Order: sequence, then C-alpha cells, then structure tokens
Amino acid sequence: MKQENLFEDSEKIKKEYNKLYREVRKHNRAYYLKDDPLISDAEYDSLLQQLLELEKKHPEIVRQGSPSRIPGVTPKSGFLKIRHKVPMLSLGNAFSEDDVSEFIKRIQRFLNMDASSALEIVAEPKIDGLSCAIRYENGALVQAATRGDGEVGEDITANVRTIIDVPHSLPQPCPDVLEVRGEIYMRKDDFAALNSAQEEKGQKIFANPRNAAAGSVRQLDSKITATRPLRFYAYALGESSAPLSDTQDGIRLKLKDMGFSLPEPYAVLTNSIDIMAHYEDVSAGRAQMDYDIDGIVYKVNRLDLQERLGFVARAPRWAIAHKFPAEQAVTTIEAIDIQVGRTGSLTPVARLTPITVGGVVVANATLHNEDEIKRKDIRVGDHVVVQRAGDVIPQIVKSFAEKRSTDSAEYIFPTTCPVCGAHAVREDGEAARRCTGGLTCKAQVIERLKHFVSKNAYDIDGLGEKIVLQFFEDGLIKDPADIFTLEDQDKGSLTPLRNREGWGSVSANKLFDAINGKRSIELPRFIYALGIRQVGQATAKMLAANYGSYDAWRSAMISAADIESDAYQELINIDGIGALMAQDLIEFFKESHNLTFLDKLTQYVTPQNYEKPQRQDSPVTGKVVVFTGTLEKFSRNEAKAKAESLGAKVTGSVSKKTDYLVAGADAGSKLKKAQEAGVKVLSEDEWLALIS
Ligand code: IVH
Repeated sequence: MKQENLFEDSEKIKKEYNKLYREVRKHNRAYYLKDDPLISDAEYDSLLQQLLELEKKHPEIVRQGSPSRIPGVTPKSGFLKIRHKVPMLSLGNAFSEDDVSEFIKRIQRFLNMDASSALEIVAEPKIDGLSCAIRYENGALVQAATRGDGEVGEDITANVRTIIDVPHSLPQPCPDVLEVRGEIYMRKDDFAALNSAQEEKGQKIFANPRNAAAGSVRQLDSKITATRPLRFYAYALGESSAPLSDTQDGIRLKLKDMGFSLPEPYAVLTNSIDIMAHYEDVSAGRAQMDYDIDGIVYKVNRLDLQERLGFVARAPRWAIAHKFPAEQAVTTIEAIDIQVGRTGSLTPVARLTPITVGGVVVANATLHNEDEIKRKDIRVGDHVVVQRAGDVIPQIVKSFAEKRSTDSAEYIFPTTCPVCGAHAVREDGEAARRCTGGLTCKAQVIERLKHFVSKNAYDIDGLGEKIVLQFFEDGLIKDPADIFTLEDQDKGSLTPLRNREGWGSVSANKLFDAINGKRSIELPRFIYALGIRQVGQATAKMLAANYGSYDAWRSAMISAADIESDAYQELINIDGIGALMAQDLIEFFKESHNLTFLDKLTQYVTPQNYEKPQRQDSPVTGKVVVFTGTLEKFSRNEAKAKAESLGAKVTGSVSKKTDYLVAGADAGSKLKKAQEAGVKVLSEDEWLALIS
C-alpha cells in the first residue's frame, strides 16, 4: 500500500515536471527563436525557477533537453543558478612562517607521518580574481559557473566563451567529463587601458583589476564582456570522469598540454625552509608581475594524500593560502562612530580622511571594541596607520601619539546605546558591550532585517537592504516575517506599491513573485537567516545536518536548556559546536519573543527538511562511533574524518547510544565503560575490515 503511494507521488511529480518542461521550452522557442515572447520576463523566470527547484529536489527526473542543461539560456533578469557537483571550497590562511610550519605539521600529524619524511608541496601564486569552474563534455566547453556560495554558482557560460585563453574544445583523448577550475583575472596593463577608455567614454572607472574583472564577468550581455580584456589561469580540477594524473604537478602539465594558461612562478618544495625562501622570492618580485596576486597557495602534491586529508568546514586540509602582508597608508581620524549590530553589540568605527590604500579608497575602518581603542590609545584627530588586506574590512594598526595636539582627549566609550538609549552592558569574558534594548532598539531590528534578506540568507530578488529599510520606515515591515504579508497588505492598501514612485505593476508583481518563491527554503539558510549570535553559515549547516528538520531542531534547542538532558549532550557533541555556541542557541530559544517570532514566520514559510548530500550507504552509516587509545594506522583525526565521510557519527564519550568503540593500544576508562555497557568493541584492524 505504502509503495503504491510512493509510486503515485513520483508519477505526480513527473507529470508536473513534464508540464513545466514543455512550458519552458515553448517560451524559450518563442523568445529565442521567434523573438516574440508570450509572457513577461518575470513570469518566465518564475517558471524556470520552479523547474530548477523541482530538478534540484528530484535529480532523477531531469530530461536531456532541460533548459538547465542547455548553456546560454539564461533568465532574462539574471543568471541561471548551477549546483556544483563538487563544492568549490575556500582556503584557510597563513600569515606567518609559524602558520606555514604549523600547516605542514598538521598534515604530518593527520597522516601519522613522522616529521622527517618527505612531503611534497606545490606552490603557485594566489591570483586576485574570481574563481570559475569550466565544464567540458566530450572535449567541448558546455558550461561555466562562478563560485557563488561554493555550492551553487551562476551560469556565466556565454561570458566565459569570450575569454581569450579559455579553450572552447580540448584535444582528444580527454575524459568525457572534465571540469577545469581556475581564476578569471585582468592583467595590470589591460586594466589601466580599460580604465582610460572608460574615462574617455564617461563610463564607470574600476577601483582595481579584480573589481574590473568581476564587473565584466557579471555583464548580462556577453557582447560587453567580449570587449573586456579578461584572462583565465587554471589551477585545479572539479568533477572528472577519469583521473588526469595522480599528482597536482601532473594535472598542471596535462592542463598546459590541453591549452590552458597556468600561473607562474611555480615550484615543488619539500620543507618549510624552501617554502619560506620561495615565498620571499615571489614577494620581492610581486610588483613586477603582470597581474595582481595576494599570496601563494601551497597544496599537497599527491592526490591520494589530498583525498585522505579531506576537508574541514569549507576549506581543504591539504591546501593553504600564504597571504602577503596587508597594504598600509597614513591618514587621520575625523570621528569615531558607534554602530549597533544585529545582536546589540556596539562596534566603534573610525571615520577617516579618505586615503588610497593598495588601489582602493578607504574612508572607514573598524576599531573592533572598546579594549582595542584603549590598548592602541586611539583618539579623534589622531594620525594613524590604516591597513587593508584583500576583502577584509580596513583596520587601524597604530596611532602616532607624538603628533597629537595638546587638547587631544582619550576616547570615552559610551555606556548607553547611541540609537535607543538603553544601557549598554559588558558581560564577564565578553569583548563587546551590548545594547540591552533587544527588539525595542531600532538599530537591532534593522540589522536583523538586513541580515534576513542578505545574500546567504533569504536572498530575495529585488528586496535588498535599501528597499527593506524603506518598507520598515513606512511601517509595512516590523519584523522579517512581515515580508511575507506584504502582498496581502498591499491588496487592501490605499497606497499600493504599484502607485508609488519608482514602482509599477510589473515591478511590484515581480517582487511579490520573488517573495513567494522563498516561502519554501533550505533549512540551513532558514537557520542562518534567524541571525542567532555566533550562528554563521557553517554552523547553520551543521545544525540542519544533525537535526534534519525544523521541528526536530526547534524542540531539541528547547530541551537543551536543561544541561543534564540528552538534547544538550547531543548539541555539544556536534563537531564544531562548543559550550559557548550551545549557550547562545539555548538563550535564543529561551526568549519567548523569539519563539513567538518563529511561530509567526513558520506560518508563512516552510523550511525544507535537510537532505544530507548523497553518500553511499556503508556498514557504518548512521552508527555512533568512539575512538580511544593509541591508533597505529592513522591519526585520531583521520579516523574520525573517514568515519564521518562514511556516514558515521563520531563522539568523544561512550554512552548507551554508542554502537562501536574502536580501541587502540592502552585504551583506558572508555574501554572499561564500553565493556560494562555491552558496547561492541573493535580493534583497529577489525574497524578497517568493517569499513573496507
Ligand atoms: S586552489 C580547494 N590555487 O583562492 C580550493 N586557489 O581563497 C582550491 N585562488 O576560491 C583552490 N589562486 O578562487 C587555488 N593558485 C590558486 C589560486 C586559488 C587564487 C582562489 C580561489 C579560491 C580562493 C580561496
């Protein structure tokens, strides 16, 4: 009976999909072939979005000719979204020699290698551009995507086809599917020429080559992109149907043979001393290079070791970016303002006499918190050194006390909120002073709204910061849930949106469509959008993966308030969630106004259940495993990472939920506890046999 239902469901989904598929194809033909659209752009985009959503949920139904597979068919109001088959990760940073040698040691520890055994590391420049994944099928370029949030990027195929050093086809033999990853960038001389041409035409001047490259890639009209001097350096592979080589070095050579350009200078190194010497050499020659680089990337050369090392959060263990020191300049502080954040923290911001630092005009710098101001004795009127590195917010490095005038006075940090006047208190052990106004503080309400609609949260097309604030000022939106009542409010309004300046029926409907499109939302985005203190994207994802559904998460967070409870244990057992973060989550759920808000929000939106990325079932999928004692074949970290990649949950202590205790030599109290509790105990070899 149950099976029949399942069958009926999947038939229904297929039918719905086929209907949408035919619709979208019909409109594609009308628009692209006959140049005679039958519906508005917004209607088309909404249809396409529905089709893509359905494909995302049911990849098995995707048809060969789906618009999502045909490159070049983009929504007319933006770029199509593309889910990366292999996530595009970011890199951890190293800023000093110590960071670099710690990176090497960490790898050796993880792989259980002794410090003297050779580990080949390849080094190449970290290009300051935008990453891009280019997909070839049977040797032909079929798709190119931006990194996006690492999991979903944007389809920029048409634009990437215009880049001179991107091959449109690869020499045979080559794997049926090959995704080449690299950086789109602009050379310094090309950038200067582009800017003078732009100036002559009275068009936008770009701040630096990176911005110019980004602006050029994001053109909806690829004819414009074609006029921009973009280039591409290949540095890695994404999905590949057959291995190209067993080393990073080998991949580079193959990519070169296939016609890709590769970043130089490049080296294969085996110890920290050679790595540092290479870094110094490149650093010294940096200004003479044709293009901007912001550091050097080190990668473990052997791919089998890369595979064993795997990833932590969003960065691989086998690679790191060794950043160049930040660029600096001297300017003066004109004022110190206090900004009130989403969770009430007061952040001091220095307003500077604008100055160019590394090609970018800087007018503000963060002062972090009151201790930082005290420690550096920073005062209004001071001459200061300001620095900026990459996309990081500019910082004040130091202040020249000797240049002060006699009436200079120490900065007194406010003890009340500059926005709502409530007390601003600093709890023990906290760096930030916080406004106690909660949701009566306008600044906190606004920041929460801004966070809710931000790119990594709800990301509603057409509802950016500016518009959401306008609606707030107009009294249409008091909290994020009100966004979903806008359309209904508008229907009964005497001043409907369509009659307002800057709006019309089309744009108002487009906004309502975009809002409606977000009534069903991925659980990690939903959790992140709530703006709970310390809960960033990575944590939101871990929570979603652990609890699977909104209801399960909500009730677990409420139960976790009792620190004796299993729910609390489960929460702090999630890798990456410590007691402090658990406390912030618990506090959020203790506030009755937050629960009321959640109930209101979930009347309008449905967080989707979290489907863990598909992994093959293994004998340990879903099992709870504890490692103890000295392991010989691998480090504790590697054992844990491997078990997790096979779907097991690794915890630090034995409980009645433990399925296996893997005991190495000299196992102590955990072994005893497991034996008493009747938990199955495995030797290292038995464990390996089980998972192999
Ligand atoms: S390797 C797993 N090599 O840096 C990530 N990345 O901060 C493998 N980047 O998103 C990346 N030059 O866009 C690699 N020679 C290089 C690079 C490079 C620039 C970028 C890349 C990545 C970002 C991380």
